[in-house]
Amino acid sequence: MKVVVVANFDSMSAEVAKMVFGQITRKPNSVLGLATGSTPLGVYELLVEYHARGADFSRLTTFNLDEYVGLGPDHPQSYHWYMNENLFSKVNINPERTFIPDGLAPDLEAECQRYEKLIQQAGGIDLQLLGIGTNGHIGFNEPGTEFGIETHVVDLAESTIRDNARFFESIDEVPTRAISMGIKTIMQAKEVILMASGGSKADAVYAAVRGPVTTAVPASVLQLHPFATVVVDQAAASRL
Ligand code: PGA
Repeated sequence: MKVVVVANFDSMSAEVAKMVFGQITRKPNSVLGLATGSTPLGVYELLVEYHARGADFSRLTTFNLDEYVGLGPDHPQSYHWYMNENLFSKVNINPERTFIPDGLAPDLEAECQRYEKLIQQAGGIDLQLLGIGTNGHIGFNEPGTEFGIETHVVDLAESTIRDNARFFESIDEVPTRAISMGIKTIMQAKEVILMASGGSKADAVYAAVRGPVTTAVPASVLQLHPFATVVVDQAAASRL
């Protein structure tokens, strides 16, 4: 696991955007795994700038980590909405090759299997972006999730519901379930980048990077990944 410590949110975003751009340049038909939340917002802004300066996204395929159960693409807090708003509508990506789990699927188990199969059919993920929850989750794989699990339906942890309430009118509106790529799905990506910014992530980053590999801290599994890079700002790295 390579750890890169940078000054702040902006330098974290610049470092990761550069790595993504490098991937796209080396392999224009890359399969990217994408994350949502506050952490990757600066990366997406910079990728939009790269596109404005000529970067071509037309041959990419993307798979998002997760989606809330019960929120459709028209819901402003859905991850479909987030991706359109922050990246897809602003670059020349082919919408038919952007994939996000369907949180409205009538049969959620079948949707999980369909999603996993789509990833395999695309040849697997070349580069997966990840944030980290204050409880150490990656995607919505909450503490206690077995490492061998593929895309699955998740009951969100209380701490995740609290953390994400800031995006909703009230905590009661936060969905309690989600579809998430599993740890196995994430570990099959050829390369992963975990990003973290801010002091609220310092304990989770410490546990993920320096602690034992344990299902109690899902991100700690990345210590076992052959090509994992952790890009953190000084505040998030303050306990390392
Ligand atoms: P955040 O979420 O980027 O909004 O902090 C990260 C996560 O929960 O994985």
